[in-house]
Amino acid sequence: MGRGSGKGKTILFGEHFVVYGLPALAAGIAAETTAKLTRVRSFGHTLVDNRPEMPGYKKEKYEEQKASLENILKYLNIDTTRMGFQIDLGGDLVCASGIGASAASCVAIVRALNDEFKLGLDDEQVNEAAYEGEKGYHGTPSGLDNTVSTYGGLVWFERDLSGGSPKFKRLKLDKAMHLVIASTGITASTKEVVGDVKTKKEADPGWFEAIANEYSQLVHDGKEALIKLDTNKVGKLMNRNHELLQQLTVSCKELDELVQVARKNGAVGAKMTGTGRGGNMIALAPDEPTAKKIAEALKKARAAGVWMTSFGL
Ligand code: MEV
Repeated sequence: MGRGSGKGKTILFGEHFVVYGLPALAAGIAAETTAKLTRVRSFGHTLVDNRPEMPGYKKEKYEEQKASLENILKYLNIDTTRMGFQIDLGGDLVCASGIGASAASCVAIVRALNDEFKLGLDDEQVNEAAYEGEKGYHGTPSGLDNTVSTYGGLVWFERDLSGGSPKFKRLKLDKAMHLVIASTGITASTKEVVGDVKTKKEADPGWFEAIANEYSQLVHDGKEALIKLDTNKVGKLMNRNHELLQQLTVSCKELDELVQVARKNGAVGAKMTGTGRGGNMIALAPDEPTAKKIAEALKKARAAGVWMTSFGL
């Protein structure tokens, strides 16, 4: 039996911009997806998906998930025409848009295959194979999600637009920061939303450039503020990042409402996270009691799911 796991993630700064080579900052969260691989007598492979989910998520992603698994098997040269296995997905990461669910499952599957077939892959190679899996979900992933899912922790990430390996660095803070994550319950299509931004960018390059220029200063300021543990400044920059994402048209009414609720209830900053047009938002809390208060307010505001987490150590 082979086993593997991959972490969920949340993007603090840089969704969408990262696709165009700008830096992003993201954090792995404690919740993870697990994969268990069991050999069977018949030929072929089956995937049994027991992950907890936001209603409708797995159905929505079913075809993409199939394409993703085929990509991984092809990349790792695993041929199931003369042998067979079943992969069971589980774990405590609730599948929803914006939490890195697809990347976490790709990493978990690659690690389970690595374990069962003694492929000898190190983390870098696991990450590369998971990236191939991510392509099944959307054609042009930046590689951010699978990288955070593989390594966890707080990650500074830059895609190499000429096709080389991305640059990334793990950052450590002197103190953990508190985050509240809330879901709109809406499953978004990363392929569609990323494609839409691309179309808009091509139609009006100047529009995109102006927003991206501001973002590129913002993410450097965000990194500096995080290292200095300047929570208020990080929060303000998250708020501004949310506005820039609104300008990119990737936020939505439901996300904006949850962001407002979090800010009114003590968050030093709040923004959508991940693909947008549904999915999740994050709120930065100054301390744990305030995080609890924000979480309660988000539940009352009918967020479809609310989780408290921390990052940085
Ligand atoms: C999705 O979690 C993040 C996006 O920036 C897409 C990507 O990085 O591939 C929207």
